[in-house]
Amino acid sequence: MDFKIKYGKYGLITGASAGIGKEFAYILAEKGLDLILVAIREEKLKEISSELSARFKIECLTIKKDLTELNSYKEVFELTKKYDIGLLVNNAGFGYYGRFINQNEEKLGAMIKLNVFTFAMLTKVFAEYFVKKERGGMILVSSLAAFQPTAGMALYGATKGFELLLGEAFSEEIKGRNVDVTILCPGATVTEFQIAAEGVPHNGMDARKVAMCAVKNLGSKVISIPGVNNKIIGKLHRFLPRSVVRLATKMALSHYLRD
Ligand SMILES: NC(=O)c1ccc[n+]([C@@H]2O[C@H](COP(=O)([O-])OP(=O)(O)OC[C@H]3O[C@@H](n4cnc5c(N)ncnc54)[C@H](OP(=O)(O)O)[C@@H]3O)[C@@H](O)[C@H]2O)c1
Repeated sequence: MDFKIKYGKYGLITGASAGIGKEFAYILAEKGLDLILVAIREEKLKEISSELSARFKIECLTIKKDLTELNSYKEVFELTKKYDIGLLVNNAGFGYYGRFINQNEEKLGAMIKLNVFTFAMLTKVFAEYFVKKERGGMILVSSLAAFQPTAGMALYGATKGFELLLGEAFSEEIKGRNVDVTILCPGATVTEFQIAAEGVPHNGMDARKVAMCAVKNLGSKVISIPGVNNKIIGKLHRFLPRSVVRLATKMALSHYLRD
């Protein structure tokens, strides 16, 4: 599929300085989309942008923005609306392991601001813009954690559940308006996630394969779960009692419940 023809000239990626978002930048640049990359670490964004423009002969702009700031979604929208944005990759997010009652309130608040507030508002303003144009694509990055309660990272799982439910519901509302939506629900993926989440390094899928799954499914699947094992886990919760599902995730994350 020619993304530029189908969706428009530019792709906007939040959280593009590392991990899955960075891989989205490479994949979409290979497809010839011009890009706007958003994150806090400007140096990293600039490095990626220079490499992508040189290698793929695309225009690649960067915006340094802390997306936990209340008005950041408006500022990003205002700064980018003069471009023909055709594809939003709403990816920026972070996790936080530990026992909910002992966690740092400031960090929990920042997670709600980023994973819930800015995620929802960016989705809203761009969906509205795409529906008006009757053209656009949206990749919303949630998680496999969205499918069950996650004792050991309770608030993170809840924010990811929010993202999945919001994505599924609003994509149904805009069906038939020529705006493709897929919600990416990765399992463990090798990125910088564990550092930000105060976890221990974990094995997981390759971030490029994870991003590629959403790019391939855009226009055909509302939920994108990369990897066979993850697909099984994503469906298993439907067939098990809720108490078993709660216990299983608690056991998997028991390491973070020792305090
Ligand atoms: N890795 C996994 O195992 C996994 C599994 C399921 C879902 N996910 C989801 O995948 C998405 C990407 O995570 P990742 O694994 O690629 O993690 P990552 O390597 O830590 O990348 C996170 C990206 O988000 C950006 N970001 C974080 N806080 C930000 C803020 N306040 N404002 C703007 N940008 C911010 C980071 O850039 P700066 O630090 O430069 O701001 C970085 O570019 C997240 O939504 C995460 O929940 C990850």
